[in-house]
Amino acid sequence: MSKNFDVVVIGGGPGGYIAAIRAAQLGFNVACIDDWKNAAGGPAPGGTCTNVGCIPSKALLQSSEHYEHAARHFGDHGISLSDLRMDVAKMVARKDTVVKQNNDGILYLFKKNKVAFFHGRGSFVRAVEGGYEIQVTGASDELLVGRHVIVATGSAPRQLPAAAFDEERVLSNDGALRIPEVPRKLGVVGSGVIGLEMGSVWRRLGADVTVLEALPGFLGAADDAVAKEALKALGKQGLKFEFGVNITGVKTTKKSVTVAYTNAKGEATTLEVDRLIVSIGRVPHTAGLKPEAVGLQLDERGAVVVDEQCRTNLPNVWAVGDVVRGPMLAHKAEEEGVAVAERIAGQHGHVNFGTIPWVIYTSPEIAWVGKTEQQLKSEGRAYKAGSFPFMANGRARALGDTTGFVKFLADAVTDEILGVHIVGPFASELIAEAVVAMEFKASAEDIARICHAHPSLSEATKEAALAVDKRTLNF
Ligand code: FAD
Ligand code: NAI
Repeated sequence: MSKNFDVVVIGGGPGGYIAAIRAAQLGFNVACIDDWKNAAGGPAPGGTCTNVGCIPSKALLQSSEHYEHAARHFGDHGISLSDLRMDVAKMVARKDTVVKQNNDGILYLFKKNKVAFFHGRGSFVRAVEGGYEIQVTGASDELLVGRHVIVATGSAPRQLPAAAFDEERVLSNDGALRIPEVPRKLGVVGSGVIGLEMGSVWRRLGADVTVLEALPGFLGAADDAVAKEALKALGKQGLKFEFGVNITGVKTTKKSVTVAYTNAKGEATTLEVDRLIVSIGRVPHTAGLKPEAVGLQLDERGAVVVDEQCRTNLPNVWAVGDVVRGPMLAHKAEEEGVAVAERIAGQHGHVNFGTIPWVIYTSPEIAWVGKTEQQLKSEGRAYKAGSFPFMANGRARALGDTTGFVKFLADAVTDEILGVHIVGPFASELIAEAVVAMEFKASAEDIARICHAHPSLSEATKEAALAVDKRTLNF
């Protein structure tokens, strides 16, 4: 006997669980299937984000930042410490507790919103009258029928052809989040978001970290000025970078990893490290979904093909998050999940791809929304730019963290904000004001005329908006 639902969501990451909750709020009878298991084999909804992504990485970034403050910066405040030690096992256990709190929170939300949760793998069986049959295999063993199906099966780490992940020496994001002791030497392949965040965690705790990047430059997606400032700051902290490398081989022993590569000059060289994190991007994940059973179309990358409204090639089958085109970000997945649930309800769900913020949680933090200066130049758009350094912000001085700046880009004629780029303390929080401003099509002058609390880092945002009109007050 099958169980019938208005909406069956396959995948319980930020795309899937949020879609399920929103659909339930809209009055639908909803099921969510997720196969992630915790160490005891129990359900661990929340996907990559909760289990091996956003949440655990931020927990480790927080712990390692506390350690770095204690080791390097407490002295500036007159606080002296002796016998400072890092208990890595405790830090990792704390991270696991934070993850579990989030898993439990999602199970609670499912109950609260009357979403039926099935722990197991969901696979398409066939199209039937009024929907699609989905087989759940695992702890739950059920046949479900969904009038609508939302595919939210996420992504998986991309491997180097020369080195499969063993999570002991060659680590994906999963292994990188549970290294049992601080490596003496750590290699990171890829200077993208994971490489910088995880490289920072282990560098702060004392590892000698070398990042090998294939491209000749740093953080191509960020504004050039931000990338330059971030590279300078991260390098000063001790992260070593090599750009323009071509990895030719990886050899692993019980205790070490040797990476063979040619450097930017074309010279063959090697790097020997205790462990190697490979963070060279992620690929859409559809293993076990059996898209072929119903003719669900995938592209050459393995992503589910969708239109701008997340409709697949099949009627009433939708797909959201990392498994479809667009940036692989939890908040993008969530927005798509909400929009799809609302479209199923006949509403006009909408995702504005032009105002999705990016944040990299290094120190300094890096955050941006909208266009970079190099994009505006290549589009031939007339723009004005204004920047304000945290060095001239009273709160940043009091914090003891004056690295970086806020930069505004605005249309030369209308003054509409086209992009905001921040490198510096709490950029992850400051960027929200810029997102709101851009959503409301604000001008730089709008921000410049809003009263910002003093002393606060947000005054740097106001001052950068003033800088667009060349009238900063404190610089
Ligand atoms: P996922 O979160 O991948 O969830 C998919 C779920 O579906 C998983 O639980 C999976 O097991 C399950 N599943 C797959 N197939 C099936 C099936 N057939 N049946 C049942 N279940 C199935 N993004 C940010 O915005 N901010 C960050 O700070 C951030 N940090 C990150 C740090 C790291 C180390 C990594 C790896 C990623 C990070 N991301 C971050 C990216 C973010 O995690 C993803 O964009 C987000 O998780 C995508 O959500 P999703 O719902 O599409 O997929
Ligand atoms: P990424 O796309 O951010 O960076 C990958 C880097 O690896 C690029 O710089 C690329 O040029 C380089 N690279 C690719 N192949 C290479 C090779 N063979 N040798 C050397 N370098 C190579 O991917 P990453 O860091 O794996 O993260 C995946 C995704 O997860 C991100 O794109 C992001 O969407 C998400 N994420 C988001 C975070 C956040 O929002 N704070 C944090 C971590 C991940």
